[in-house]
Amino acid sequence: MLNRLQRQSHFPAKGLSKQKASSNTRREFLKTVTTTAVVSSMPLIVPRSVFGANAPSNRINVGVIGLGTRGLPDMKLFLENKDVQVRAICDVNRASNGYRDETTVMGLTPALKVANEHYAARQRSGTYQGVDATGDFREIIGRDDIDAVAIVTPDHWHAVMTIMAAKAGKDIFCQKPLTLTIQDGQEMIRAVRKQQRILQTGSQWRSNARVRFACELVRNGYIGQLKTIRTTIALNNKQGPGPGWQPMPVPEGFDYPMWLGPAPQASYHKDRCIYKYRFLLDYSGGQITNIGGHAIDIAQLGNNTERTGPIEVEGMEATWPPRGSLFTTALTSKFRALYANGVELICESIPPYFSIRFEGTEGWVEFANRELKTSPESLASVELKPDDFRLPAPNPTRTIANPGHFYADHIRNFLDCVKSREEPIEPVEVGHRSASICHLGNIALKRMKRLEWDPQAERFVGDETANSMLSRPRRTDWNA
Ligand SMILES: NC(=O)c1ccc[n+]([C@@H]2O[C@H](COP(=O)([O-])OP(=O)(O)OC[C@H]3O[C@@H](n4cnc5c(N)ncnc54)[C@H](O)[C@@H]3O)[C@@H](O)[C@H]2O)c1
Repeated sequence: MLNRLQRQSHFPAKGLSKQKASSNTRREFLKTVTTTAVVSSMPLIVPRSVFGANAPSNRINVGVIGLGTRGLPDMKLFLENKDVQVRAICDVNRASNGYRDETTVMGLTPALKVANEHYAARQRSGTYQGVDATGDFREIIGRDDIDAVAIVTPDHWHAVMTIMAAKAGKDIFCQKPLTLTIQDGQEMIRAVRKQQRILQTGSQWRSNARVRFACELVRNGYIGQLKTIRTTIALNNKQGPGPGWQPMPVPEGFDYPMWLGPAPQASYHKDRCIYKYRFLLDYSGGQITNIGGHAIDIAQLGNNTERTGPIEVEGMEATWPPRGSLFTTALTSKFRALYANGVELICESIPPYFSIRFEGTEGWVEFANRELKTSPESLASVELKPDDFRLPAPNPTRTIANPGHFYADHIRNFLDCVKSREEPIEPVEVGHRSASICHLGNIALKRMKRLEWDPQAERFVGDETANSMLSRPRRTDWNA
């Protein structure tokens, strides 16, 4: 499927079939749309007389879905790109606190203000009301004028939204962890590849120059033969109510059924939703998927196993909230995984917040607290040889001494790929495999035994209980 920009012939349709975009797309989606909460709207006026790379008709029209802790900063990073027009935003929460802390108000209305003010500052009139806002993401996905979506919602929505967006011909920036389950990832890959979409996974640390250099040292053998990868993930940074917790009334301006979406029906409690959903297995996987979405992602990059997984996984230690608590993910955890190349990965919920250490037969390299350390120390200043393997850089001007705004670079890489149709830094298969190892870790902690994993079939060998945890039923409205 060609995107709007390709149909206008401003950008090459590299590697794509000549298949025409379905003219039914918008109509089909609008059939299912419930027209709720449209806060503002302005007809699309494209001044065709204006030419140039950033002319309105050449810009990548973006819709941002989810405007919370990460979504609001993500939207700002999209806004900073002159060849992007944020046309529409979506959140089921009109505005509330409880995001970063009890006083930070985020959600749809504050984000709309930020976006409109950003564009107003560039108008001679100093006013702009052109960004549309909605509480129903299907309105964004159903629009013909939107080229790409950023999905920054809790993890239980990533698959449904990605699959629907891909089917509607949108390119997708989807936050990490890419999936809630391993089956989610398999379905996302099918949809993205069938529709020839670009998908960038939001694990931005792999776009950091220091991380990339660490992985290049490992992959070029500067620490000898890689033996062990140690990752640390943070302890839970939030508390939830214990046994006997009581449901709360749903606050005004919060579309709770649409927040739950494909997840099981459950009574409302504020600690179920904003930010803290991370600690309920129905929506996420605790710090293993939250921080593992970065640390384990880097392990995969350094180990050159980005498109596969381990052959064995074993839960070693776990503590859990008391039965009946709202939170259900592990409070503390430790698991190990073994790869076919003999490398062992150990993931443990101990400080620092997130770190990764590659240990080889001749030295080690560690990325922790944003810094790079090596043994021997001289490794840190090694100049890679011309014929050494290099990882793709989202911004070649960054160095290990000055990694710069690598998150902005990660988003820029997505935008460049929307235009070039090249593979981004973290395509769907790679994001799926990184998230898969986090899910395998969580399953291993539940089983607390050594499990054999077939990374090709993506099944456990001889443990049907573990295999039953590879997918979750979605509520019927959301079988994408
Ligand atoms: N890359 C990073 O460093 C990074 C950092 C933080 C979060 N994240 C990821 O971003 C995602 C969101 O996390 P967060 O911390 O921002 O959570 P959050 O709870 O603070 O924000 C999520 C937002 O999505 C909204 N939402 C929920 N269901 C929706 C729906 N159906 N339609 C539209 N909006 C909906 C919520 O109302 C909320 O405003 C997660 O996948 C998380 O792992 C990534």
